[in-house]
Amino acid sequence: MSSLPRLTVAQADALADRFLEHCRAAGVLEAGAPAVSWPEFHAFRARLTASFEVPTTTLTPLAARVLYGLAAARRPLTVATLGCFAGNLMAWVSGPGFGPDSRYPGRRSLGLDVAAEPVALAAANLRRAGFTPGAEAVVGDAFDAAAHSADDTWDLLLIDIDVPGARKSGYARLLERWLPRLAPEALVIAHDVCHPVFAWDLRDYAAFVKDRGALATTTLPVDDCGLEVSRWPG
Ligand SMILES: C[S@@+](CC[C@H](N)C(=O)[O-])C[C@H]1O[C@@H](n2cnc3c(N)ncnc32)[C@H](O)[C@@H]1O
Repeated sequence: MSSLPRLTVAQADALADRFLEHCRAAGVLEAGAPAVSWPEFHAFRARLTASFEVPTTTLTPLAARVLYGLAAARRPLTVATLGCFAGNLMAWVSGPGFGPDSRYPGRRSLGLDVAAEPVALAAANLRRAGFTPGAEAVVGDAFDAAAHSADDTWDLLLIDIDVPGARKSGYARLLERWLPRLAPEALVIAHDVCHPVFAWDLRDYAAFVKDRGALATTTLPVDDCGLEVSRWPG
């Protein structure tokens, strides 16, 4: 049995571009949303590789490119990552606005997790990598949207909680809490929607976001985990 060859860097960049083009066609990104600068992405990636300590992750290089590309296109001033663990996914969606050499000045990127140890690691990772002070990881229950939002509304929400026992079945209930705090044209990204282990937990998630007012939603099979990307109206 032969395995498929790994993608080259250029092939992975090109494939990520195809996913982002699909997002424009599906209406989850504006048709004229900016394209990714791959040299900027690779400079950022080198910085993260050198400074981030990530004990465990399911994030693939292609998914990282797509997360970064979605943020580069949407340019969120406010980002909330629910279930940030050591800050890995948070870093990719925060890179364009809050990373070292960011492309635009983001205002607040909040990472939330109930587990103190990975949050401390996430905070250290963000500082070591040179993220702006607006990017912070804090211990907190993501279901308590009001406590963490203050006067902010959120341009980009990334959902990746994994609750003991309930696993990923809480995504819809969690989103319900954050809906009143979504900014116009908010982008909501849910991780793991394609993973076979979570297929039952997340079987109704895409229908749920449509029912709750998403303008468009699309499933990106970037890897075994997959991403659901949904856009709210302006
Ligand atoms: C799959 S991991 C997240 C991985 C992470 N996004 C990354 O970049 O590697 C799921 C996380 O959800 C957290 N979690 C579970 N319930 C939560 C809750 N109610 N609020 C915030 N975080 C929660 C867990 O502590 C765990 O770190």
